Amino acid sequence: MQYYVVANWKENLEDDVVLDWLVEFRNRYEVHSQVKVGIAPSLTEISLVKDYLENWNMVNSIDLVGQNVSQFPKGRYTGEVGAFQLNAYQVNCCIVGHSERRSNFAETDEIVAEKVKRLREYSIRPIVAISKISQLESLANLKVLSDDMIIAYEPIESIGTGNPADPVQVQKVLAQVKEICPSVRTLYGGSVDATTVEQFLGLESVEGFLVGTASERVEKFVALLDVIRKNAV
Ligand code: PGA
Repeated sequence: MQYYVVANWKENLEDDVVLDWLVEFRNRYEVHSQVKVGIAPSLTEISLVKDYLENWNMVNSIDLVGQNVSQFPKGRYTGEVGAFQLNAYQVNCCIVGHSERRSNFAETDEIVAEKVKRLREYSIRPIVAISKISQLESLANLKVLSDDMIIAYEPIESIGTGNPADPVQVQKVLAQVKEICPSVRTLYGGSVDATTVEQFLGLESVEGFLVGTASERVEKFVALLDVIRKNAV
């Protein structure tokens, strides 16, 4: 299996830190067939990351990922960034529905569904984060599920706490996701790092990881990728 591992930097890294991260990543990381990496920078760093990936000829092996997108196509929405603007940076995928957006910015399933539609207009692959299966069922009712999606299960109590979820529970939920939408790619997120990831490798429905804290420091992220690569089944 090829694991998809997305570094979600959230609102954490600024230009000079990102630059060091990228240079160090290039020095330390070996492209490997069992791991595909995505990098989700803040919008202020997206151009920097894009240029680096292009200069290193890595656009085919590392995805550029958006952290968020406007629910609206274009217009008078101060502070928002539309799918057409992400598309101009050749963003491959975009996270939507992260629990931090649902809780801090009151994003509902209806808003998440609109964001998925906007992304689809530009063939940007949505990475839809859910913390419970009912959120996926709502998206099914809103008729926005499709096979090209990536679904990341991230229980709220596991995000940023150092306490990953029970692998049995993760497998159960992601298997339910596959029942609802069989061809989606399914990820787990929540306190994944080099010391916690092994328990999730080999689970049938875990096809990758959404990584917050352990992606902020490049050495931690590369250590995580190494464990995945060595234990990939
Ligand atoms: P974490 O964050 O790795 O810090 O738990 C995961 C996420 O929010 O995607």
